[in-house]
This record gives sequence, C-alpha cells and structure tokens, in this order.
Amino acid sequence: MSQDQNHNRREYAHGALRRGDLAADPLDQFKAWLDAALEAQLTDATAMALATADPQGMPSNRIVLLKGYSDRGFTWFTDYRSLKGADLAANPQAALLFYWREFERQVRISGTVEKISRAESADYFASRPPDSQLAAAASHQSAAVADRPTLEQAVAKLSAQYPDGVVPAPQQWGGYCLSPTRFEFWQGREGRLHDRFCYVAQDAGWLIERLQP
Ligand SMILES: Cc1cc2nc3c(=O)[nH]c(=O)nc-3n(C[C@H](O)[C@H](O)[C@H](O)COP(=O)(O)O)c2cc1C
Repeated sequence: MSQDQNHNRREYAHGALRRGDLAADPLDQFKAWLDAALEAQLTDATAMALATADPQGMPSNRIVLLKGYSDRGFTWFTDYRSLKGADLAANPQAALLFYWREFERQVRISGTVEKISRAESADYFASRPPDSQLAAAASHQSAAVADRPTLEQAVAKLSAQYPDGVVPAPQQWGGYCLSPTRFEFWQGREGRLHDRFCYVAQDAGWLIERLQP
C-alpha cells in the first residue's frame, strides 16, 4: 500500500465496548449486536463466513446465512455433499465470522458442528419458497456441471414431477448447528485502539478477557 493511501485512512468512531457493558452470556451479547444490525436493516445482516478445514488442515471459507441461534448453537442450511459438508464430516470443528461494517463490529465464533435432526431440516425446507426448494433439490452443490442449461433442465424435470410445488426435503440437504466454545467481539475505536473481548467456555460459565487490538 502506498503512502498516499494514508490520506484515506478510515476513522473508527462508532462506539465503544466496555467491560461493564458486556452481557455475562455471549449469546446475549451476540443478540444485542445482531438485533442492532437487523434494526438498521443492514444488507445481509445475517450473512456469516463459515470456515472449515479438511483432514490435511487446508482451510476453506464461504458465506452462509444464519437461520437461527439459541443455547444449542448457531444454525445454517446447506447441501451435505458440498465441500463444507465433506470438511465437516471429517473435521467437525469450524468458525463463523460476522462483519457489520456500518457498526464497525466483528464477531468471531468457533466450536463444534453437528447436523440438526431430519425433522427440523424438513420443516425448514418446507417453509422455503417453491423455487428455492426446486433449486436446492435439483442441484448437487459444489459438483461440476457442463453448463447452465443442464441445471435448468434438472429444475424443470423436478418441477414437472411435483406440479403442486411441494418438493420433499432431499436427504442430502439440511441444517448444521455450531455449538460455540469461544466468542470474540471486536468494536472499532478511534486511533486504532480497538476494543476486543473474548469469551472462552469454562466448566461453569464463560471466562471473559479483554484482548489487545
Ligand atoms: C450472501 C450469500 C449467502 C449464502 N447463503 C448460503 C447458505 O445459506 N447456504 C449455502 O449452502 N450456501 C450459501 N451461499 C453460497 C456459499 O457461499 C457457497 O458458494 C456454497 O455453499 C458452496 O460452498 P462449499 O463448496 O464450500 O461447500 C451463500 C452465498 C452468499 C454470497
């Protein structure tokens, strides 16, 4: 980066994160920040980067949408045959990352991932619009395909098979839930002296520490 670009240095001035303001439970802290992003109607406020790694340790990263969170963990939906599905089958450890630029906030969450139940996945699939159901059922996510018409034909064939628009939830499609063992909340501050706090799961409760920026 050239010296000239320093003229455009971004000033972080949105807010502060103080030890006394932190929720004791990181899920409550996450809720406060996600709710702020949703209330501000930020584009893709629920979008999160999901990082996985294969058995050789090669990392891989992609955006998915958060569809729910609770004491159990953080849930998203996908094709179990995808690259992330293969990574998670071999190595169930993963990390999530949210970035809400307008608030100068980042949240990192890591833990262990499990598939949710078939029934929960089927319920969520049934709640999706018909074209989303068809696309998910017709596509083998992350497998190579000759061209777009091949995909469109697969969707048309499935659509003809289910003229009432009710597609059964495919076995290979469903939810994952990441049960968190570590959170980090990052708040941009003036002069690059940002606020960072991590929560690390203990036998009882969470250890909270301030981290240097
Ligand atoms: C904004 C956005 C939201 C996305 N949401 C999802 C999602 O919820 N589930 C999903 O499987 N892929 C989603 N994708 C596509 C993934 O980023 C990715 O291309 C796909 O899951 C295949 O990744 P993989 O081969 O690493 O498994 C989304 C992409 C973007 C840009």
